[in-house]
Amino acid sequence: MKIQLQAQPPEVTLPVVIAGTLVKGRENYITLGAFGLMSLQPPIVYISSMKSHYSNIGIKENGFFSINIPSADMVQKTDFCGLVSGRDINKSELFTSFYGLEKTAPMIQECPINFICKVIRIVDLPFNEVFIGEVIDYYADDECLDDNKPDPQRVNPMVLAGPSYRSIGQVVGVAFGEGRSYRKNVMQH
Ligand SMILES: Cc1cc2nc3c(=O)[nH]c(=O)nc-3n(C[C@H](O)[C@H](O)[C@H](O)COP(=O)(O)O)c2cc1C
Repeated sequence: MKIQLQAQPPEVTLPVVIAGTLVKGRENYITLGAFGLMSLQPPIVYISSMKSHYSNIGIKENGFFSINIPSADMVQKTDFCGLVSGRDINKSELFTSFYGLEKTAPMIQECPINFICKVIRIVDLPFNEVFIGEVIDYYADDECLDDNKPDPQRVNPMVLAGPSYRSIGQVVGVAFGEGRSYRKNVMQH
């Protein structure tokens, strides 16, 4: 039986990322669940950040931001980044920052995956700004790579599920493979 819930933000599982910005010349980091891939070719992602956030100033000032994927063992600092604002607390010393092609998009050395996005569009929502960015520079820790591609098990990312951070679980199927076997079965009947 389906239970109809009141119109409210649906409880969906969210990725956990930390966006890096340079605000008034200082590195600032913000934890975000509102992140997603919008296009594979060219690689385009979005983040949605409340207008009041300090990070937004830097993104608009520079036109760039970074995305860093924290591993599960970084849960405390990740949560902290989402609790305090760079307006009140200097978050630049929390991590080791490094820079790639764009000197206004600091990345986090401790995160196994990092990439830089160039803002190509800003969508104005009532309380949020959605920054759509094209990925222009991409890094991964060598020990997380398998055949030159990040191995999810080694990256060990977190998801936000209800009130908890969770790490990802076991492999349950092969993408673009399980449906094929299913299709074969359906076709036979
Ligand atoms: C797990 C988690 C997810 C969050 N996701 C978002 C989000 O998607 N969008 C947003 O605007 N704020 C989000 N926040 C809140 C910001 O991270 C938080 O307000 C932060 O202190 C803003 O930092 P800043 O003012 O230095 O930019 C999240 C916080 C946590 C802990």
